[in-house]
Amino acid sequence: MTFDRSIKIAPSILASDFANFGAEIQAVEAQGADWIHVDVMDGHFVPAITFGAQTCAAIRPHIKTVMDVHLMISPVDTYLQGFADAGADIITAHVEAGPHIHRTLQNIRALGCKAGVALNPGTPADAVADILDMCDLVCVMTVNPGFGGQKFIDMTDKVRRLRNMIGDRPIHIEIDGGVDPTTAPLVAAAGADVLVAGSAVFRGGSVSDPAPYGANMKAIRDAISD
Ligand code: DX5
Ligand code: ZN
Repeated sequence: MTFDRSIKIAPSILASDFANFGAEIQAVEAQGADWIHVDVMDGHFVPAITFGAQTCAAIRPHIKTVMDVHLMISPVDTYLQGFADAGADIITAHVEAGPHIHRTLQNIRALGCKAGVALNPGTPADAVADILDMCDLVCVMTVNPGFGGQKFIDMTDKVRRLRNMIGDRPIHIEIDGGVDPTTAPLVAAAGADVLVAGSAVFRGGSVSDPAPYGANMKAIRDAISD
């Protein structure tokens, strides 16, 4: 992965057909997805359970772009090897998931993956001030994690603050939750470059009719360049 700060859309397969991940990934990549966002939930750190490393390994061969694994789990460290073995390009852990985010980021990089840190809406940008050099990505949650299809919580001030803190360093700012053509321009203007979108991408389409996926992503991109 080479670093690039242009806008990237990362569809979350949380909003796709769980019985058909492989075909859904192929369809949304063919329609122009830049990365594939994979939401892992444990029913403990967040209320819902999705899937774990075995499912990530099964879908990996279908991903040609970037496998962006968002861990909404606690504890984290004991599971990292499994997600690295599954072929994750980026592994993101929550700063709220435990007392040792510094060690977690070290572990992720030691496993050969890019390291991301995610911030819940209630956590300030300053929480990552002392670990930025250990991060390849900061994920700003614009919903409380746990479910797709929630209403966007405006975190543009936090994004702007992070953008200033990061400066020239090769660190992505990712936005996750409630991203659509209305909200994407706000966070893009504030300095975000990776936009996760679940419902706003998969809405109206299917594996047998994937054109809406492309139209939905185009609507987000067009809204940003307006
Ligand atoms: C929320 C997940 C998100 C979610 C986004 O806990 O981390 O990635 O799938 O879904 P939308 O775009 O529908 O808000
Ligand atoms: Zn996510």
